Amino acid sequence: MAEAVAATLRERGLAVDIQPMREVLTLDQYRAVVLGAPLYMFHWHKDALHFLAQHREALTQRPVAIFALGPFHADGKEFQEVREQLEKELAKFPWLIPAAIAIFGGKFDPQKLTFAHNLVPALKNMPASDVRDWTAIRAWASNLATQLRPAVS
Ligand SMILES: Cc1cc2nc3c(=O)[nH]c(=O)nc-3n(C[C@H](O)[C@H](O)[C@H](O)COP(=O)(O)O)c2cc1C
Repeated sequence: MAEAVAATLRERGLAVDIQPMREVLTLDQYRAVVLGAPLYMFHWHKDALHFLAQHREALTQRPVAIFALGPFHADGKEFQEVREQLEKELAKFPWLIPAAIAIFGGKFDPQKLTFAHNLVPALKNMPASDVRDWTAIRAWASNLATQLRPAVS
């Protein structure tokens, strides 16, 4: 999904680097940041939470756009619940004022559950799903390009 967001931003004329959050040491060379990560067990991915804590100062000095993935179904009520999960997580960082926030459907395969998660019946018995909506992802990234352009050019 990061690749799809980056490709759209590049098509719209922005220069983009993609990096796993845990590998980023400094944001000095960047004029804007797009963070994407899945929700796991009602929490945003721990790499994303660490990233926000670790780069607080830099993130208050440039626009930050956020996307999270999670919903197992293309269902409006589920999207709303997941948005509330994400908002709860982001409320732990009251200094963060995202320029944009999006929730996208995720991809789930019960065969790939790792230890401990594979013991949770609600997950184990859930069918595989892939509700990543590439059109919505690209549309969001395209709007984001317009929004970020003043900060990056
Ligand atoms: C163990 C597990 C727990 C999950 N918990 C949540 C959750 O609490 N909320 C949610 O919206 N999605 C949840 N999901 C769905 C994931 O966010 C979704 O499958 C996402 O696409 C996973 O991305 P990844 O394959 O890049 O890790 C969970 C998935 C797994 C496997």
